[in-house]
Amino acid sequence: MQQRDFGTTGLRVSVLGLGAGQIGDARHSEDLAGTLMNRALDHGVTLVDTARGYGLSEQRIGRHLSWRRNDFILSSKGGYDAEGAQDWTPAAIRLGIEQALTRLRVDWIDIFHLHSCPLDVLRQDELLGALDDAVASGLIRVAAYSGENEALHWAVTSGRFGSVETSVNVADQWSARHVLPHARDAGLGVIAKRPIANAAWQYARRPTGQYAETYWERLGVLDLGSVRHAAGLEWDEFALRFAAYTPGVHSAIVGTANIENLERNIRLAQNGPLPLDVLTHIHAAWDAHGQDWGGEV
Ligand SMILES: NC(=O)c1ccc[n+]([C@@H]2O[C@H](COP(=O)([O-])OP(=O)(O)OC[C@H]3O[C@@H](n4cnc5c(N)ncnc54)[C@H](OP(=O)(O)O)[C@@H]3O)[C@@H](O)[C@H]2O)c1
Repeated sequence: MQQRDFGTTGLRVSVLGLGAGQIGDARHSEDLAGTLMNRALDHGVTLVDTARGYGLSEQRIGRHLSWRRNDFILSSKGGYDAEGAQDWTPAAIRLGIEQALTRLRVDWIDIFHLHSCPLDVLRQDELLGALDDAVASGLIRVAAYSGENEALHWAVTSGRFGSVETSVNVADQWSARHVLPHARDAGLGVIAKRPIANAAWQYARRPTGQYAETYWERLGVLDLGSVRHAAGLEWDEFALRFAAYTPGVHSAIVGTANIENLERNIRLAQNGPLPLDVLTHIHAAWDAHGQDWGGEV
């Protein structure tokens, strides 16, 4: 699996990362979570992304993956739900990181994100100071922000963060257009979340009230089916190669709780960028329809 420098952070990450949101769902067994995460690492996936808000995900990484701590780059997120602290306060950052380390059974987190807080929260100097303190004390290596639109833009140009996580996929190109060039200039690491657009193509009818709803709608408008078909690509390959090889992206973290899908994604991510004519068509479709579509959190 191709490994890339994660901006100028000194870390290296695999082109395909593991979004560990799905394995935090209690309906999936411990056995599945443990097998899937270890299988990912065995195949050269070196970035694992979790968060305080992903159910059992942090605990399961602690139980099943922490024994091979040096084999992977660990990304988590917080700012909320820390025991003994109000959300989005310096104490929530400090205690949140300490409590995450306990759940994850590790001594450090490589990349710690402020998780989708709005711009007015993000700009508070005390919060950023708490992140700086966590870096200085070795509890985290990179202070990061996960989010979209104007808050993301601010984070990237503020000089206060080493990396960001943001939505990048065929149906969500705002960050790629407006922020990733600045991230590249500033040497920031970039993680692409929701990289296969929540597999929204799989729904024959609008998935009302589900996460994939907006992307389902956008895919209908973008009408990429014929170019994908002409290129002889299945939807998952079409979507994953677009996100993983978008300039400025270092790792595309596909979320899955399905070992077959994981192994397929590992193969597909190594097929390189989409052909130029296919990319040209995807960009033209966005230019025609996507100008008013913002990034989806
Ligand atoms: N920071 C944030 O606010 C934030 C927000 C969203 C996501 N994330 C992170 O990004 C990760 C990925 O985002 P996501 O899970 O929302 O979106 P995604 O990776 O674009 O899509 C995940 C969906 O695709 C399915 N899938 C995976 N591989 C497939 C394949 N080869 N063929 C067909 N379907 C496939 C998965 O189902 P199966 O389980 O059945 O494979 C799952 O339902 C998350 O796990 C999380 O780590 C962060």
